Parts: sequence; structure tokens; C-alpha cells
Amino acid sequence: MAMLDVNNLSVRFDTPDGVVNAVNDVSFSLDKGQTLGIVGESGSGKSQLAFAIMGLLAKNGRAGGSVRFNGTELVGAPLSTLNRIRANHIAMIFQDPMTSLNPYMRVSDQMAEVLVHHRGMGKAAAVAECVRMLDAVKIPDARGRVRLYPHEFSGGMRQRVMIAMSLLCQPDLLIADEPTTALDVTVQAQIMHLLGELQRDFGMATILITHDLGVIAGFAREVIVMYGGQVMESAPVDPFFARPSHPYSRGLLHALPRVDQEGAVLSAIPGTPPNMTRAPRGCPFAPRCDLVMASCHDSLSPLTEWAPGRRRACNRPVSDLLEDAA
Ligand SMILES: Nc1ncnc2c1ncn2[C@@H]1O[C@H](COP(=O)(O)OP(=O)(O)OP(=O)(O)O)[C@@H](O)[C@H]1O
Ligand SMILES: [Mg+2]
Repeated sequence: MAMLDVNNLSVRFDTPDGVVNAVNDVSFSLDKGQTLGIVGESGSGKSQLAFAIMGLLAKNGRAGGSVRFNGTELVGAPLSTLNRIRANHIAMIFQDPMTSLNPYMRVSDQMAEVLVHHRGMGKAAAVAECVRMLDAVKIPDARGRVRLYPHEFSGGMRQRVMIAMSLLCQPDLLIADEPTTALDVTVQAQIMHLLGELQRDFGMATILITHDLGVIAGFAREVIVMYGGQVMESAPVDPFFARPSHPYSRGLLHALPRVDQEGAVLSAIPGTPPNMTRAPRGCPFAPRCDLVMASCHDSLSPLTEWAPGRRRACNRPVSDLLEDAA
């Protein structure tokens, strides 16, 4: 049994304009200590997928399908179960650190609260543990800085505080949603390096959500490519980068700057992501796909394993992509 087993997970939102199909039939599993990258353009359903796993969807949202963590079903689980899992097993770093840090509380107080509340620790011991975690994420002078307010930290340091906070309960699974998007490139690299170190030291499984394939390459062993709320392709990272099997993945890869091809022209994928209020009939990527066929507008082949560990949802045979690339 895998640690995390996601089966046919869907997320729907009721809105005045109709139902938004944010996540459609997503399935994957993750073992202890494994690293998974989830990549896709803005609006592809990455964050809502994470929120559905954590039981944190907005009020107008509902999840369908199944999310099992060590055998415990989380979809539709009572709040007490979700709270227990969130306090002891699954932690999340949110896309925007300021939405999850309280600006009016000292970092020491808000971090210690987690341990006092969930672990029943005394305040002094809790603060000492917080300092240890701030040290672990390489905040200089952690003992002094723990007493500061969030706005007294720089963006990169604030993200480190968030990471330290997520590690307090020693999670088995960390979900990091765009942990470096708001940061400049140098700080981004430092934070990703840190996350990699912590992942190895603490041995936790990690799901890294990003729109940047470059970040995935240096971090994750497996990758899932999402578009229009669906999984287009999933694969181990090395064969994926060597030979993407979906036109959308290939488009994302071509939009990636490469150190080995200085001056190569980057091509963004023309067009914009789909409107999710219309339930997709065919392939959601069809309107933007350079290999589109007539049938793609009506139906999409289900996600199928075409080589060991590699799955794709595309009406074109894999060989068409290779010929096209040659
Ligand atoms: N509460 C809500 N009500 C209605 N629609 C919503 C709600 N929350 C999210 N959505 C929609 O769900 C879809 C998926 O959003 P999601 O936040 O998962 O995208 P994302 O892949 O994380 O994008 P980004 O890279 O910009 O963070 C979007 O179309 C979004 O507008
Ligand atoms: Mg998001």
C-alpha cells in the first residue's frame, strides 16, 4: 500500500456562472520519502488538487473520488480526522507566505502555538524547538530573530519561516505550493537547495507544485503534467526530460531556458488555458495543440501506461511526437 493513494480525484466549484471543473479524475500514488513534481500553467488545477488532499477547499468547492493516506480515507472525512492528519502527518507550504503568517503575532508565538496546541509542549520548550527549526532552515541568529514579527523578515527569510513552521510537526508528507514564486532567482535557488536538503535529512515525501519545469528537474524524481484539471502525462523525471510524450509537455519544455543552448529561441505555447466552466468533452489542450486531429475535439484517450512508469493521455501515438521532433 502506498503512503498516499489518490484515485479519480475531482474538484468542482459552484459559481453564479455555473460549475467550475477545476480538477478532473486525477490519480497517482506516492511512497514514503518520494519526491513528486506537479507542473502546469496557471489555472491548471494544481493548488486545488493540493487543497482537496488537505481537505481545505473553499466553501463552494466539493471533492469527489478518493484520497487515502496510509489507508485512511480523507475525502469526506470528519474534521477530527483531517485535523489529526494535518497536525501529525501532512504539512503544506502555501503559495503566498503572508496569507498563512499572522502579521500581528511574533514568529515565536505563532510557531510555538502549533507545538503547544498539537503536541502539548510547554511554552519554553516549544520556543526552543522553534529556534531549532529556524536554525535548520538557516535563519541567521535564530534565537534573536524568533521574537520578530513577520514583516521584519525579508521575502526569502519569510519563506524560510514558513518552511520551518511546516516542519515543526515532522510531517511524513510536505506539499509545497509554488514555494519560490515570489522570490528573486538567487533566493529561489537557495530555497530549493534548502528544501532538497531538508527532504533528505527528514526523509519526508514531498509534492512540489510549480509552473516551472526547471525547478522540478533539480528536485523531484517523478513528474505529473496537468492541464485543464487533468493529468496529461506522468513519468520519472529523467526519461521525461529526455523524451516528453505529450505535445503539452513538449511545449512546456521548449519554453524552458536551457544552459546548454545559449541563445536558443524560447517558444511560449500560443493561446491561453481553457475556461473551466465548460466540462471538457475532448482534450482540453486541443485548441492549442500543434499535433491536433479532428477526433481530439470530441474525445480524449484515457491516461494509459505506454512504457514502464510512464502514462499519457493523448490521441496521437507516441511515435508521432518522435517523428515530429526529428
Ligand atoms: N473558490 C473557487 N470558486 C470557483 N472557482 C475556483 C475557486 N478556487 C479556484 N477556482 C478555479 O479553479 C481552477 C484551478 O485553480 P488552481 O488554483 O488550482 O490553479 P493553479 O494551477 O494552482 O494555478 P496557479 O499556477 O495560478 O496557482 C481555476 O480556474 C480557478 O479559477
Ligand atoms: Mg496555484
